[in-house]
Amino acid sequence: MRPNKVENPVPPAENRASAALVDSYARRIDYIRLSVTDRCNFRCVYCMSENMNFLPKADLLTLEELERLSAAFVGRGVRKIRITGGEPLVRRNVMSLFLGLSRLFGKGLDELTLTTNGALLARHAQELADCGVRRVNVSLDTRDAEKFRAITRWGELAEVLAGVEAARAAGLKVKINCVALKGVNEDEFLSLTEWAHGFGMDVSFIEVMPLGEDAVHNIESFLSLDAVAAALAERLTLSPSTHASGGPAHYFDVAETGGRVGFITPLSQHFCDSCNRVRVTCTGQLYTCLGQEDRVDLRGPLRSSPDDSALHAALDEAMRRKPRGHDFVAQWSGARAPSRRPMSLTGG
Ligand code: 5AD
Ligand code: SF4
Repeated sequence: MRPNKVENPVPPAENRASAALVDSYARRIDYIRLSVTDRCNFRCVYCMSENMNFLPKADLLTLEELERLSAAFVGRGVRKIRITGGEPLVRRNVMSLFLGLSRLFGKGLDELTLTTNGALLARHAQELADCGVRRVNVSLDTRDAEKFRAITRWGELAEVLAGVEAARAAGLKVKINCVALKGVNEDEFLSLTEWAHGFGMDVSFIEVMPLGEDAVHNIESFLSLDAVAAALAERLTLSPSTHASGGPAHYFDVAETGGRVGFITPLSQHFCDSCNRVRVTCTGQLYTCLGQEDRVDLRGPLRSSPDDSALHAALDEAMRRKPRGHDFVAQWSGARAPSRRPMSLTGG
């Protein structure tokens, strides 16, 4: 579904620093996904090439700038921040950022979360919990060590499983994210779900998206989530859940396990009308929509002056430009070139 355009009220300059972020389709933006690095200790085949080039350090927002930016967003009504990457835990000193962000609790921030590949989670789980993180998403497409290596190229399954265990031990609620890949993990959807639910973890299945240098390659491993649902329905009873995470997943309750399964189908546009989020890359580019190239630079305004007025003006500009919905279908059908921006830049 696509929302309708409305008059976009631009806040008067004097109120800017506290005015809510509302786009021209009357969608209130209260969720940011903030990428803190484009680097990763894995090289997942659907995300990066093996000899991926990364950005020079000077291009990245410093940890202080990331914190300042987050505070500005929270001042404007953002209640949830998800830290992403690349792999966020490979960013040097990232824990000092979490500590800084934890100070925004009580100033409007309700939730601080993290999407991680889990490899370094064992090391950081307790500290994350101490910073007020309550939930983490761990990407795990297979529980077969060889397949895991084939998908991630550099990953070690045992480390990720230890990370999941440490997160649970620290009291974090873990959600497993699994990208459905034709001919790769098709036989595991059921066992992965039963395993996760056995430990009280929800699972979300994600359709592979046409992002990054190998965008066209991803089309070959594309598997519709209908196939996932069919595999699960062989043994499990799924009924639509009332649960809403603030994210784009459709959730189902599983009668047999008491757990939940989410389906994230970015190619359908069902979630555009309730889109409450924007993404900020590690270089401070605000992408108004996952599937579109349009962006607003926040790094320039952040660096141009120690006060935030230019930054707030840029945020208002982004609200005016946030598009109605994404364009994946047109891209896949060849009407437009697929996005070359990899997930590791925008952070999912
Ligand atoms: N399509 C779908 N999901 C992807 N991810 C990374 N690249 C893609 C892609 N091209 C997933 C990761 C992780 C989440 C952050 O995004 O596996 O679960
Ligand atoms: Fe790293 Fe995640 Fe990309 Fe895999 S999908 S290479 S874990 S950023």
